[in-house]
Amino acid sequence: MKNINHLSIIDSKFNVDYSNGEIKGKNVINAKKYLKDLPNIFGDEEAFSKIDEDALIYEVQAILPVDEGLEGGLFYGKTIVHPGKVGDEYYMTKGHFHQKIGRAEFYWGIDGEGMLLLMDQDRNTWAEKMIPGSLHYIDGFIAHRTVNTGVKPLSFGACWPSDAGHNYQEIMDNGFSARLEEVHGKPKLIAS
Ligand code: PA5
Ligand code: MN
Repeated sequence: MKNINHLSIIDSKFNVDYSNGEIKGKNVINAKKYLKDLPNIFGDEEAFSKIDEDALIYEVQAILPVDEGLEGGLFYGKTIVHPGKVGDEYYMTKGHFHQKIGRAEFYWGIDGEGMLLLMDQDRNTWAEKMIPGSLHYIDGFIAHRTVNTGVKPLSFGACWPSDAGHNYQEIMDNGFSARLEEVHGKPKLIAS
């Protein structure tokens, strides 16, 4: 840590609003993903083409206190996945393996309802329910994606190693081996 004065007592550099996970502080990164940013993610191409391409699907905030790629640091983030569906498939994040594939991550539910979709390298896919207070340890070598299965925004926190990186290509090319769809009013994993 730089610029620390011995015996000084200072305010925290960041604050979190625990009702929705919003991060406040300097140099907080904000990113928004619209439907048009997510080609080849959803299964139903016809339904995809009928939705406004400017529909906001998810928003990410992140604090990167050290350089990306540094070994030993940590990053902190918050994601909001908005409610909605493309056909029968719920709004979700792109999903990724980590670039350094063995790196793990924590997610925790803050508000709303959803699922954490997980897939191992043998393409076995399963889901963990996300609710306010749920805590999810995502082991290394596991691809992860979050899905809003509820009617209000799903917000969750995340903490991951600064040298984990994001590998989106594998999921862009091959997807997950199952999709989370609404069947008779309930979320169901359907092999794809
Ligand atoms: O680092 C993470 O795993 C999260 O902060 C995600 O990046 C975030 O939820 C957005 O998902 P994705 O990176 O798959 O678009
Ligand atoms: Mn991750």
